[in-house]
Amino acid sequence: MHIGIDQLEFYAPSTYLDLTELADARQVDPNKYLIGIGQSQQAVIPVTQDVVTMAANAASRVINDENRNKIAMVLFGTESGIDHSKSAAMYLKRLLQLPDNIRAIELKQACYGATAGVQFARDYVALHPEQQVLVVGSDIARYGLKTPGEVTQGGGAVAMTISAEPALLNLDDVSTFRSEDIMDFWRPLYRTEALVDGRYSENVYIDFFKAVWANYQSQTNRHIRDFEAFAFHLPFTKMGLKALRAVLPEASEQQQSQLMTNFEASRVYNRLVGNLYTGSLYLSLRSLFDQATLKPGQRIGLFSYGSGAEGEFYSGTISDKFDVEASKAWFDHYFANRTQVDVATYERLFKQQLPNHDVLLDTRQDDARFVLAGIKHDQRQYVDRE
Ligand code: CAA
Repeated sequence: MHIGIDQLEFYAPSTYLDLTELADARQVDPNKYLIGIGQSQQAVIPVTQDVVTMAANAASRVINDENRNKIAMVLFGTESGIDHSKSAAMYLKRLLQLPDNIRAIELKQACYGATAGVQFARDYVALHPEQQVLVVGSDIARYGLKTPGEVTQGGGAVAMTISAEPALLNLDDVSTFRSEDIMDFWRPLYRTEALVDGRYSENVYIDFFKAVWANYQSQTNRHIRDFEAFAFHLPFTKMGLKALRAVLPEASEQQQSQLMTNFEASRVYNRLVGNLYTGSLYLSLRSLFDQATLKPGQRIGLFSYGSGAEGEFYSGTISDKFDVEASKAWFDHYFANRTQVDVATYERLFKQQLPNHDVLLDTRQDDARFVLAGIKHDQRQYVDRE
């Protein structure tokens, strides 16, 4: 029996910032952002979207009448949750009208949460092949105005169903992981913006990748030649390029160029959206599926990294049922219909945080199906506009 990713959909708000304009405003050479960081645009998140609404907007496209009653768990990866106690999965479960006989929980380990969800889901489906698990990664990446991390902000959500005989990716059995208690990136409870030791975080990311990749090779006897492509957690797309370059010398010249071509395919969407923390690896995987030319049976390697830190390498092969046309059309439409905001508007939206008292938000500018309409009695008011 194969187990793996059956569906993989994405949502981010329709407002975005062009990073050439940000570079001009910050008096930085635009090529630092476009080439040095590898980002062209970033999603700007309005106050009417949070991790729950973004997850609902993505997940409503993977839940349908056929699979609604098969969903046994909702595993919600996030590092920008909205409550210290109640899980974002519980709100999501209600918004999606999922049945009550399910488990709904939140998973936190920086950008690694959704990968934990995928792995737990795989194990669950192995025991219960007739059921499915909804795995979500939803985040808003905030470092602060005029900080070095500003150019690596963004936000959005991915939603996946993990099932037997999946339509996208059959997961291989072996995955290798590593954890170490370090301070490369963190966000104390009292802060809305992350703290980061930028260069150190990049170095640890690469060290973790090399360690889990070496461990994976020795456990499986697989070599880089067994891989058609790699998908990386992309906090910014140059990060994935640095990781790929760390292993490229293991490949033949011909394969190096094929891995580079597929890497370019894997960063098309991320370059335009920015960091979505838990969802970034899976947006990159979606980008690879849609923008590369892949065939059933080809093997993809996935590297997940969550600061603090947890890293995991795992792999899967393209399913026989693989078809990407609908997803491509969705992304074409999404990118063609976004609204660019100028730097002043982005700064205003960035500062517009929810107050800690009752408020009614103006949702008229927000074209999403699920929106946050305000706070009443310390409870977020979510609306499904369909
Ligand atoms: N043309 C082309 N390239 C240029 C350039 C120009 N005019 N000017 C500079 N560059 C290049 C630099 O040479 C550098 O390249 P390398 O990284 O290959 O050396 C690159 O642009 C960035 O320049 P700096 O190192 O000077 O950039 P910076 O000090 O402003 O900060 C950063 C970069 C550390 C990534 C910062 O944006 C940051 O802290 N980001 C957030 C942290 C992060 O994303 N870490 C990633 C690992 S942690 C993780 O993955 C979890 C997560 O999601 C947070």
